[in-house]
Amino acid sequence: MNNKKEPHFETDSIHAGNEFREGTGAIIPPIYATSTFESDNDYGFDYTRSGNPNFTNLEKTIAKIEKADYATVFASGVSAITAVLSTLDKGSMILAEENIYGCTYRLIDQVFCKFGVSVEYVDFTNEKSIKRISEVSPDLVWIESPTNPLLKVIDIESIANETKDSETALVVDNTFSSSYIQCPLELGADISLLSLTKYTNGHSDALGGVVCTRDTYWGDKMMFSQKALGLQPSPFDCWLIQRGLKTQSIRMEKHSNNAYEIAKYLEERFPNEKVFYPFLESHPQYEIALKQMKMGSGIITADLGIGLEKTVSLLNELQYFTKAESLGGIESLSCHPASMTHAAIPRNVRESVGITDSLFRLSVGIENVDDLIIDLSSALDKIGA
Ligand SMILES: Cc1ncc(COP(=O)(O)O)c(C=O)c1O
Repeated sequence: MNNKKEPHFETDSIHAGNEFREGTGAIIPPIYATSTFESDNDYGFDYTRSGNPNFTNLEKTIAKIEKADYATVFASGVSAITAVLSTLDKGSMILAEENIYGCTYRLIDQVFCKFGVSVEYVDFTNEKSIKRISEVSPDLVWIESPTNPLLKVIDIESIANETKDSETALVVDNTFSSSYIQCPLELGADISLLSLTKYTNGHSDALGGVVCTRDTYWGDKMMFSQKALGLQPSPFDCWLIQRGLKTQSIRMEKHSNNAYEIAKYLEERFPNEKVFYPFLESHPQYEIALKQMKMGSGIITADLGIGLEKTVSLLNELQYFTKAESLGGIESLSCHPASMTHAAIPRNVRESVGITDSLFRLSVGIENVDDLIIDLSSALDKIGA
């Protein structure tokens, strides 16, 4: 029994950010489909690019569950990343994990580097790379944990210990873990960023992004980016994401249980190949995963060493794991990173970090796990793997 005043995640995700219903009796706040507001209204709204009741509600809920003082919502995960990167000046430097989402890589490489920002990529699972922070004093350290798609687990607390007394801000893309499983701000990060499109919404029917922080400097910068760069979401998408968020806790439990069972199945069937899942004992950073994640989340990556053609055939044979970009929805999806999510990364760079043609990623949904395993097993049989 918890007698503390602070409500738990499950309660906050349902009850926090439930405003703008006054006097109507509505249990759920409506969608404020308006581009503009009457001047001098009681709530301070003026134009939806710089604020809307549906943004405010979602921001309040997410700030609670991410243990943040400020949460700012954006049109997509990439918009949230753009908002953070846009704060950099000419001459700024980013020290980034070498395995990051392909579009983050592309945004840094093809857009922000044009404006005089530089980047160095390192393997943050290697302790020497953590020391690199004090050697180069970057403006930002950029990590994901687990990473997309290799599921490397990065020790957030160790990196935060290295950045905490410096001018360097630690940004953690928390998309693969979700707010329910991991809390980067509690581990010392300056910013926790999420693509809300994935586990937060959870139903593959809306796009969104958020930047969470306890730092007023970053909170102000993000509010500025939302309106000045035109990165705001739509009120309807915020409303959908808020609805999805109410069931995040139970979804994440089911995603994680299903993914764990499937990872074990794949590992048993292919004991000599690579199956990555943070909560498998064979995972190279299993101990770190146990330390900072509540459970393993719903993504599995595997490299069965069967080459491009067979890997793509395998994904095409699957009945329930539809081949599609994205992840984190209630339905299972499969993905071939080299030709899909990470195609923007040059082949040599991609392969040097382990994104081979044989690598595939499963976003395990909340279907019945036996049905998913039968689906995988018959697809593997069909391609003779
Ligand atoms: C780790 C990670 N961060 C950010 C994004 C971008 O999110 P969005 O598609 O909402 O722009 C993605 C998308 O797959 C992702 O995997």
